[in-house]
Amino acid sequence: MKDELSEQIEKAASLIREGKLVAFPTETVYGLGANALDPMAVARIFDLKERPSFDPLIVHIADISVLRRLCVLQDDRAEILASRFWPGPLTMVLEKKSIVPDIVSAGLSTVGVRMPDHPVALELILRSGCPIAAPSANKFGEVSPTHADHVKRNLPGVDMVLDGGGTSVGIESTIIKLTDNGFVLLRPGAILPEDIAIYVPQDHSYYLDGVDAPGMMKSHYSTRKPLFLETPGICQKMDCSNAGYLSFDSVPSDPYKKVLRLTKNGDAREYAVNLFAGMHELDRADVAFIVAEPVPEVGIGVAIMDRLRKAAYRHDNSSL
Ligand code: TXA
Ligand code: MG
Repeated sequence: MKDELSEQIEKAASLIREGKLVAFPTETVYGLGANALDPMAVARIFDLKERPSFDPLIVHIADISVLRRLCVLQDDRAEILASRFWPGPLTMVLEKKSIVPDIVSAGLSTVGVRMPDHPVALELILRSGCPIAAPSANKFGEVSPTHADHVKRNLPGVDMVLDGGGTSVGIESTIIKLTDNGFVLLRPGAILPEDIAIYVPQDHSYYLDGVDAPGMMKSHYSTRKPLFLETPGICQKMDCSNAGYLSFDSVPSDPYKKVLRLTKNGDAREYAVNLFAGMHELDRADVAFIVAEPVPEVGIGVAIMDRLRKAAYRHDNSSL
């Protein structure tokens, strides 16, 4: 690691130890981190994000053995999944131990834990000497940041932003909860249920209620400008010459004011990497609204459409 970056990480680690907030890169999106074992520090995350206190945080660790310090493991399934998918974009919701403050889990008996696949994040956690609680580093309900600039612009009150460049996955981690019969998918992401099911079966019979997934709002990831999912004839209903377009694999025939081609060859993983940056860019551009091209709902396309539907929800209930 370069000396300058290493110095930055050292400074960030000492801020975390002092109870301050540091935005840091992960492979998914930038996180807004605080010492997960310090309730006062964690409270500052909720304040700065304007996040409702019922929405729990994910705890980031850099060593699998820490999982046992934070969680009650009934059997070896969590560790099997951890050894297969960590570091990586998989969050596991598990029974928490009392060492995890209630504010982190929003009062639930469970806590979400993951090990990010990013050298800067891992080094920060190790040097801080504590697990780091971190939601995405954006105001509640807004688009997640995939570049340090997004954080600096939209969350200016943060004590420090560690710049690790653009993130490599681009959308938030897959979240699962382990039940008696297998796993339940709480949030789709880059790690697919079918990949997890090789090790632990998917539990389709479990009834998910609001208590299991408190942060799963219908509206989320919202741009400030209205965002619509493209539907046939949309530009007959609205004046697209004043709109921005997020393109998956087509060049639109409608006359949009600004077109962002997020992937050159219809590669959904590349679309995911560039999606939030595209949303941030069009939000700042001189356009009145944003239209996003839907992607096929297979593989990571499921997670992309989840984010796009939530971004469009306030403006376009027909996209449900
Ligand atoms: O990729 C990611 O997961 C990023 C990076 C920074 O790691 N983090 C992230 O955090 O997306 P956030 O706060 O934006 O989303 C966390 C969501 C919560 O809204 C909630 O839905 C779910 O994780 N969650 C966390 N703990 C939970 C728990 N104990 N039970 C159920 N859901 C939980
Ligand atoms: Mg978030």
